[in-house]
Amino acid sequence: MERSFLMVKPDGVQRGLIGEIVSRFEKKGFKLVNAKLMQVSRQLAEKHYEELKDKPFFGELVDFITSGPVFAMVWEGNNVISVSRAMMGKTNPAEAAPGTIRADYAVSVGMNIIHGSDSPENAKREIDLWFNGEVVSYEKTIDKWI
Ligand code: GTP
Ligand code: MG
Repeated sequence: MERSFLMVKPDGVQRGLIGEIVSRFEKKGFKLVNAKLMQVSRQLAEKHYEELKDKPFFGELVDFITSGPVFAMVWEGNNVISVSRAMMGKTNPAEAAPGTIRADYAVSVGMNIIHGSDSPENAKREIDLWFNGEVVSYEKTIDKWI
């Protein structure tokens, strides 16, 4: 089953949106297989966003992601990588479709509430980086209805 790394960013935690975001993915039918609230180190933030290290906003991005606790998660389900990205909406909340998380709760590209892996390769890399690859495998009796 496909897995993705998702994270409520510091703005989402401060604004009390952890429950709302977890609820959306639960209601969709995805399964939470790991989660933790944590303060991110600069080293971890730089590694996580290493593909963006040459962007002019990289320093700002690392400052922001280390500015307060994040809620890191691993979710499992059919096509969870692309479907969760669709549920998040476009990077810039101004361009995100109504009903998506970023459109409903954010107004700036810097503080856009949530991160989600963008490819199977990055999902694996990020689950290894944030959770040492560990997930909790379990059955739910409702699985056959999803
Ligand atoms: P993530 O799920 O967070 O990785 O977002 P994304 O995949 O939609 O976008 P991308 O990986 O290209 O950029 C990572 C993050 O950098 C975005 O979510 C934004 O928060 C931030 N970002 C992107 N562009 C800008 C920008 O122009 N200025 C600032 N301050 N931040 C930006
Ligand atoms: Mg990205």
